[in-house]
Amino acid sequence: MEEYIKEAESLLMHTYSRYQIILDRGEGVYLYDTNGKKYLDFGAGIAVFALGYGNREYNDALKAQLDKLIHTSNYFYNVPSVKAASKFTKASGMDRVFFTNSGTEAIEGAIKLARKYYYKKHQRGDSQIIAMNRSFHGRSMGALSVTGQPSYREAFEPLIGGVVFADLNSIEDIKAKINDRTCAILLEPVQAEGGVYPAGEEYLKELKKLCEERDILLIFDEIQCGMGRCGSMFVWQEYGVKPDILTSAKALGCGVPVGAFGAVEKVCMAFEPGDHGTTYGGNPFTAAAVNAVFDQYEKLDLLNHVKEISSYLELQLDELAKSHNAIKERRGKGLLQGLEFEYPVKDIILKAMDNNLILFSAGSNVLRFVPPLVITREHVDEMIEILKKVIS
Ligand SMILES: Cc1ncc(COP(=O)(O)O)c(C=O)c1O
Repeated sequence: MEEYIKEAESLLMHTYSRYQIILDRGEGVYLYDTNGKKYLDFGAGIAVFALGYGNREYNDALKAQLDKLIHTSNYFYNVPSVKAASKFTKASGMDRVFFTNSGTEAIEGAIKLARKYYYKKHQRGDSQIIAMNRSFHGRSMGALSVTGQPSYREAFEPLIGGVVFADLNSIEDIKAKINDRTCAILLEPVQAEGGVYPAGEEYLKELKKLCEERDILLIFDEIQCGMGRCGSMFVWQEYGVKPDILTSAKALGCGVPVGAFGAVEKVCMAFEPGDHGTTYGGNPFTAAAVNAVFDQYEKLDLLNHVKEISSYLELQLDELAKSHNAIKERRGKGLLQGLEFEYPVKDIILKAMDNNLILFSAGSNVLRFVPPLVITREHVDEMIEILKKVIS
């Protein structure tokens, strides 16, 4: 393992402080490193692997598509992408979809679509987007421009213009920042990377009203919190607050790189041929993954499972928080939970890995829990036992 890590450090760009582990294979909700050490996975490859590792039908669907056709380009139609579009629009409530290769590209597409909608209406290219402080939307230049964390942005400025930031859950702040040039308000219904902060129901409802009154587009980034992680297929369905544009990725392909942005019909119509494109997006292979994911969600009744198992996880995390003074707060929704500590959690994460548990942070002081959606009570108990030991 040490040899490969040394080689990796000499060949790969230094964009990550990686953990000193090489993961080799997965089984259910467990991962194994190249030395054979077993880990309980409460990270799911950053909220990606919803189905757990080694889901037979998902794997078989990918293998079958691999042997048939992997790529066509978007000059042609392909059946898996039509099926995936049907499943995605049905599940998300959006009317049309554009498949991308990642979350950040889904955000790029959403920004372009919102700008084009404004441009068609006003014949002016001076639109503004209101995004949220503490948000995270990805690493490309457009996505960085709407990411409300200076540490990610500063070295890469100037970014795209026309973005202002507001505080999540403050309708007053939004009102103060809206003007005639506002084309869209963009937020994660549950801020993930920024520290696990859910948006309040009343706030979302007021936001929607405000957007409707002024024909401003509401964009939900459900790349991390969507696809069943918070109990409904998408978080907007929990509150009945439907966005005009919705982005998805991560669990959408369960490890096969695919993202999507969908929108309601009147917004979709702003795009014309030539406005946007991608070589790979929606190719038969990634679309087969999307289809297999949606099929497995249905077969495993995953949404109901998440509702049930997440209330158990919340209970156990609340107990843990009560008995440890260093834990300030539990926050989150469904299987996207955070525990905020008085101090940075880096050492807890390292010690948890020593003790066979994979966990991530969300910001410096928050432990993030984003396990595969198929976890059981036994897995929650096992995680809590390890965590208790590590914190002590
Ligand atoms: C809410 C949110 N939006 C966008 C992204 C970017 O997605 P990707 O890393 O696939 O580009 C992430 C990734 O963590 C995310 O959590």
